[in-house]
Amino acid sequence: MQKKILITGGAGFIGSHVVRLFVNKYPDYHIFNLDKLTYAGNLENLRDIENKPNYTFIKADIQEGDLMLKLFTLHQFDAVIHLAAESHVDRSIANPLEFVLTNVVGTVNLLNAARHIWKDSFEGKRFYHVSTDEVYGSLGPTGYFTEETPYDPHSPYSASKASSDHFVRAYHDTYGLPTVISNCSNNYGAYQFPEKLIPLFINNIRYNKPLPVYGKGENVRDWLWVEDHARAIDVIFHKAANGTTYNIGGHNEWKNIDLIRLLCKIMDRKLGRPAGTSEKLITFVKDRAGHDLRYAIDSTKLQKELGWKPSVTFEEGLEKTVDWYLANQEWLDHVTSGDYQKYYEEQYIKR
Ligand code: NAD
Ligand code: DAU
Repeated sequence: MQKKILITGGAGFIGSHVVRLFVNKYPDYHIFNLDKLTYAGNLENLRDIENKPNYTFIKADIQEGDLMLKLFTLHQFDAVIHLAAESHVDRSIANPLEFVLTNVVGTVNLLNAARHIWKDSFEGKRFYHVSTDEVYGSLGPTGYFTEETPYDPHSPYSASKASSDHFVRAYHDTYGLPTVISNCSNNYGAYQFPEKLIPLFINNIRYNKPLPVYGKGENVRDWLWVEDHARAIDVIFHKAANGTTYNIGGHNEWKNIDLIRLLCKIMDRKLGRPAGTSEKLITFVKDRAGHDLRYAIDSTKLQKELGWKPSVTFEEGLEKTVDWYLANQEWLDHVTSGDYQKYYEEQYIKR
């Protein structure tokens, strides 16, 4: 019998890569993509697979507990890969409650629905919760986050993700729900909403707009190509033991300002502009409140136990990413109209 997998947030950035990978790689699975289609959800991300026979889209809000129960009862999902979330730190500073409602309450609604329909037996079932390295807080100049690092979230976003991780573990420990969690570092690649650093700056360079660098640009992030994250989710989903956690990261730390300078160089080359043109757009602006200094993931457990490793270097991944955004300007233009303009003004112009 065909396995029914629910993927939440599949119209978003990472979710769309996970949906594409699973729909194409596993014709024996039926993939249900459940998404509310917030500003960040975009079905254009899935044009290439939307007519596949093993794919169904469900527009729904995970904040609605009764609806989740109905949908789980109707479709009898065998497994859940949960990515739906409010994901942008700056938006969480402006509106924390929405992050509690989707990231915490929404996750508990899904846990309840899974627990209810799987009550007779957990055999062959799996609830996979996709989380972030931000739950571990901020590092100084040395050291790495491991799976044992205590939680220490600072932003409303990371606090809501940390809370959701705790609920997932609580459902495993209390009810025996077969859960697994992964905590990943910063992703980059195609289909990322241009509020996040890399696509925002690609788009701004293209239109000769200022590049707003928070503080002095000294914060460090550990960047992973989104398709390598999707591959890691595939491996963890199929191979991890119940109740476990895996960190995912590329051992690829970049100080923001160095990354931005590299991006400017690549963009000058691709756009045929004289070297140094894009760097002139760099503008230092007020720092993000509570800005975490450094994230760095130790993914030894995932590499050793489950055999995953990143498939591209950062230089290769960034080139591919820039090429994708330049070739898909129409996609960028669609997502940067309407509501996004309002957000952009509030975040950067009125600052
Ligand atoms: P995204 O913002 O691009 O996509 C989120 C998706 O969730 C959107 O399609 C949106 O419509 C949907 N969604 C939001 N609220 C919903 C609700 N109430 N009901 C149903 N759907 C809803 O996010 P992303 O960057 O793709 O992140 C996906 C997941 O991965 C999140 O859980 C995030 O915390 C985690 N994560 C992200 C990164 C990263 O670098 N982007 C890194 C590690 C972990
Ligand atoms: O670490 C994983 C997390 O990475 C995910 O859980 C989040 O969902 C995702 O949004 C991302 O969070 P960050 O806050 O690290 O990503 P962002 O792209 O917003 O910012 C990256 C760095 O760049 C950060 O130090 C802030 C800085 N920045 C960001 C923006 C949008 C700027 O300097 N200027 C900007 O305009």
